[in-house]
Amino acid sequence: MLQLRLSCALRNCRPAYRSFNTTAVRLKPLVILDEQHATDKVTNVTPAILSKIPMRLHNQTDHPLSILKTIIQSHYDDFSHFSSLSPLVTPFKNFDELSFPKDHPGRSVTDSYYINKDLMLRTHTSAHEVQVFGEKQDKWLLTADVYRRDEIDRSHYPVFHQMEGARLFDATAAGMKEVEEDNARLEGILKQSNIVIEDIPHISEANPVQPTHNPAHAELVAKNLKLSLNSLILRLFGSGERSSPLRVRWIEAYFPFTSPSFEVEVFYGGRWLEILGSGVVLQSTLDKANVQGKIGWAFGLGLERIAMVLFSIPDIRLFWSQDERFLSQFKSGEITTFKPYSKFPACFKDLSFWNPEGSAPLHDNDFCDVVRDVAGDLVEDVKLIDSFVHPKTNRSSSCYRINYRSMDRQVGFTREQE
Ligand code: PHE
Repeated sequence: MLQLRLSCALRNCRPAYRSFNTTAVRLKPLVILDEQHATDKVTNVTPAILSKIPMRLHNQTDHPLSILKTIIQSHYDDFSHFSSLSPLVTPFKNFDELSFPKDHPGRSVTDSYYINKDLMLRTHTSAHEVQVFGEKQDKWLLTADVYRRDEIDRSHYPVFHQMEGARLFDATAAGMKEVEEDNARLEGILKQSNIVIEDIPHISEANPVQPTHNPAHAELVAKNLKLSLNSLILRLFGSGERSSPLRVRWIEAYFPFTSPSFEVEVFYGGRWLEILGSGVVLQSTLDKANVQGKIGWAFGLGLERIAMVLFSIPDIRLFWSQDERFLSQFKSGEITTFKPYSKFPACFKDLSFWNPEGSAPLHDNDFCDVVRDVAGDLVEDVKLIDSFVHPKTNRSSSCYRINYRSMDRQVGFTREQE
């Protein structure tokens, strides 16, 4: 039945799918968070995505994401907190203000959700950097839901939660003394702990200091960023009895709005897990916020990634469950191990269809948004398993395998009996 509805949905929407516009949202204005917004030819938000906007899981008491948020907030106890900013931002704020190049792939309609050409769903919490720095905040954390078009599997969901953290110092001798003192304090804490850190140089040719920065200042600030995050990671992952030390590695990275830039991975459950991006804030970001004479760092971490590991939550869809058997397992301030309550078997269906004549095959992300609208969170993953071009007509077809698995149902029970 679901499959039938899916193929109907595809057939009905097909003509509009080149720029991905479902007929449902294209024609009329959209009401989002009580405000009406015009739609246009780039509109690609779907009903499934719009339904997530009011949920704000990071602010729901006893939800694992809010428990994790609160633990991080208590680690940074003298930082200001922001957690209720609207996800609707201009592309200017999400990208241009942060120096993203005009041709950055993140801007495309296949990667991001647009309400119309002038309004989108933020793709990261960094979208608020200029705004918050502009409020003269030197130490702050900001938690929010962020939206990225993606494929469907157990660790990817088009809505997830990030926490942005930032700290600025006076770019003066006194400011740098403050950094040095903080670095000495943090080094003291880390020395006594069971943690092994694979580090890289704070600054290198490939990961350069910004031209307007004093290199000695940038070194100290990058060191402070690393020490501060290492101590947070120790707080999150380092508790409990460990026979072997916690392993953390720093990796050179690139972000348009920081330099030098870093990513951090933690070795957990036998593999390296990327948990955050960070770096020294681009001076042009601070200039746009009218902040003068300061230098500082910022990071952005993915809450689901970390919560899945800490609470042993095996599937990212579970965060959206309203089932009491999920929600009742968590208590503010406590990291507990999730006990699965459903062992429903997976069931896959293959769906194949002709792509519109004379055009490229449907983008995987477009197909996945149709699946989400029709089948919601029943779908565990979706994979393109075959594509075919007819030798005579040149028409192409795609075949996707849709793997269904209920997170809530139990084998041998009807819905009423559960
Ligand atoms: N916004 C970046 C992301 O979503 C992470 C980041 C935040 C990187 C702050 C650097 C500084 O990947």
